[in-house]
Amino acid sequence: MKFSSFMKFAGFGISTILFRRKKPILGTVIVTDKCNLHCKHCSVNNITAVIHPYEQIKGEMKQLYDMGVRILFFCGGETFMWKDGDKTLRDLVIEAKKMGFLIVNVVTNGTWPIDLPEADLILLSLDGDKVHHNIIRGDTYDTIFENISKATSDNICFYMAANQINKDCIRDVCEKARDTKNVRAVSFNFHTPYPDTKQLKLSKEEKAKCCDTIKEMMKEGCPVFNLKSAFPYIIENKFPTPCYQCVVMENGKLSTCGRCIEVPGLCEECGYFFVAEYTLLFRGNLKIVFEMLKTYLKYI
Ligand SMILES: C[S@@+](CC[C@H](N)C(=O)[O-])C[C@H]1O[C@@H](n2cnc3c(N)ncnc32)[C@H](O)[C@@H]1O
Ligand code: SF4
Ligand code: SF4
Repeated sequence: MKFSSFMKFAGFGISTILFRRKKPILGTVIVTDKCNLHCKHCSVNNITAVIHPYEQIKGEMKQLYDMGVRILFFCGGETFMWKDGDKTLRDLVIEAKKMGFLIVNVVTNGTWPIDLPEADLILLSLDGDKVHHNIIRGDTYDTIFENISKATSDNICFYMAANQINKDCIRDVCEKARDTKNVRAVSFNFHTPYPDTKQLKLSKEEKAKCCDTIKEMMKEGCPVFNLKSAFPYIIENKFPTPCYQCVVMENGKLSTCGRCIEVPGLCEECGYFFVAEYTLLFRGNLKIVFEMLKTYLKYI
């Protein structure tokens, strides 16, 4: 991360903590909800299957930028399925950088060729060892690793949502993050139980066991892009929700925190680690502040 970007984030953080501000810094644009997969744990794919036009997305990015957002995520559906004429996802990333976003990340299922050197991080979903990943995501594991080996940059970070199917695969995914070329780290979430996937939810005891394994793997030198000081809050779902510093834009509609904010009762069971990490950070939790500094400077 550039020193100037670091100073901007530090300034934002300090003023948010001191004045309890609710201004956003992190924004996500949903480029499409169309997806080539139908993962067992996912409730947000192919609801409309519309691919939003370039000019619309550019306008949404501009709106987020004008609100003060400086960390931008492109998400879906499957982001790599996005195109408009000769414009591709890579053009969106380049445009976002040109517009002035300081960090631009993309979330993908990894089943498409990866050529996004301008992105700061490509969060690539890997949901376990080959057997468990394929149970959740269809027969995609080998394709994903083939695409990673041919990727044109080393900015990939695995992204795993731990649930009832893959809860014992944390060690395997951490080791793959450590040992795979072009992969920088792994970032975890717990399953967020939408009404149609409640059965995949982890109990507090199961979450605690996963966090113990993640801590062990951190100790063994595996690159984990999460903050262990947030684990106790995540296990107990005792972090403040929603995250006012995060917004999502989908087809012109702006939501605070996530699209999921509209699902009754879901925030109390939220499994997204970033919500805990950001809300605790902006409440001025010192352990989180120091660990976040260390972690972000290491991986971005
Ligand atoms: C909705 S997908 C969109 C991007 C891309 N298609 C992918 O799979 O990475 C974004 C991330 O959300 C995760 N996810 C989907 N449903 C979830 C849930 N109910 N709880 C936690 N994570 C979930 C996916 O595993 C994926 O890592
Ligand atoms: S690849 Fe991503 S968007 Fe598609 S079904 Fe799986 S989790 Fe959902
Ligand atoms: S806190 Fe609520 S809105 Fe935010 S990600 Fe979690 S479930 Fe979604």
